[in-house]
Amino acid sequence: MSQDVIRRGKYIVVDGIDGGGKTTLFGSLKEEFPFLGDVDKGTNSNSAKNGYEFIYTREPGGTPLGESLRPLILSEPMDRFSEMCLFMAQRKEVRVMLEPYLNRGTHVISDRSESASFAYQIRGRRLQHLENIFWEMNRNLAPFPTMYIFLDIPPSIAFERLNNRGENVTRDVFEKEKIEYFEKVRKGFLEFPSKVKTSCIFVCATNSKERVASEVIVHIKQHISL
Ligand code: TYD
Repeated sequence: MSQDVIRRGKYIVVDGIDGGGKTTLFGSLKEEFPFLGDVDKGTNSNSAKNGYEFIYTREPGGTPLGESLRPLILSEPMDRFSEMCLFMAQRKEVRVMLEPYLNRGTHVISDRSESASFAYQIRGRRLQHLENIFWEMNRNLAPFPTMYIFLDIPPSIAFERLNNRGENVTRDVFEKEKIEYFEKVRKGFLEFPSKVKTSCIFVCATNSKERVASEVIVHIKQHISL
């Protein structure tokens, strides 16, 4: 086989309940794995390190349509079915956008994906009756993630962290939910691996941010060298 054969990029999703330290973690990941640019913002620093190319994306968002939908989905209370459909719609756009990157061997790190819809909508919003449709729709959302990393934290601690951000931080529709909602969401994340064949890793997010980052970095390095 020719040595020029390009290995397909890995598609890594980082997810978990609000207050788990995802934003801080992404700061560390972007230092460790410099990126081609925030694809949604059109920047391209082209700073590949160790021969690996990375891009970062997020949901909701990641594409011009997704980024336009994001403030709407996160601020406008709506029917839970509409909410799920909007998350699905923006996800399809993200997947279409990612395909050429993965094809040329670029690795993708995504801030959330369908694991969040399973946890926040199907379990959190009690959309059990739509679960089969949800999985059926997901089967039409190729390319699929190759690994999920979940920052796991008890909602009581996550809530303390969210409260410590101060009064001036505006809360989105999910951050305004009660702790009982986040208990359901967390259970959804814990249940997610039983629903998919893809590798799922849980990292204890109550540890220090340095330890969380170093654990996640090890998992990503192992995964991309597969
Ligand atoms: P988040 O990713 O936490 O962004 P920020 O760090 O800027 O607050 O916010 C996105 C919110 O959207 C989060 O509360 C989870 C929610 N969400 C869903 O409910 N379903 C989904 O499918 C996705 C992708 C996100």
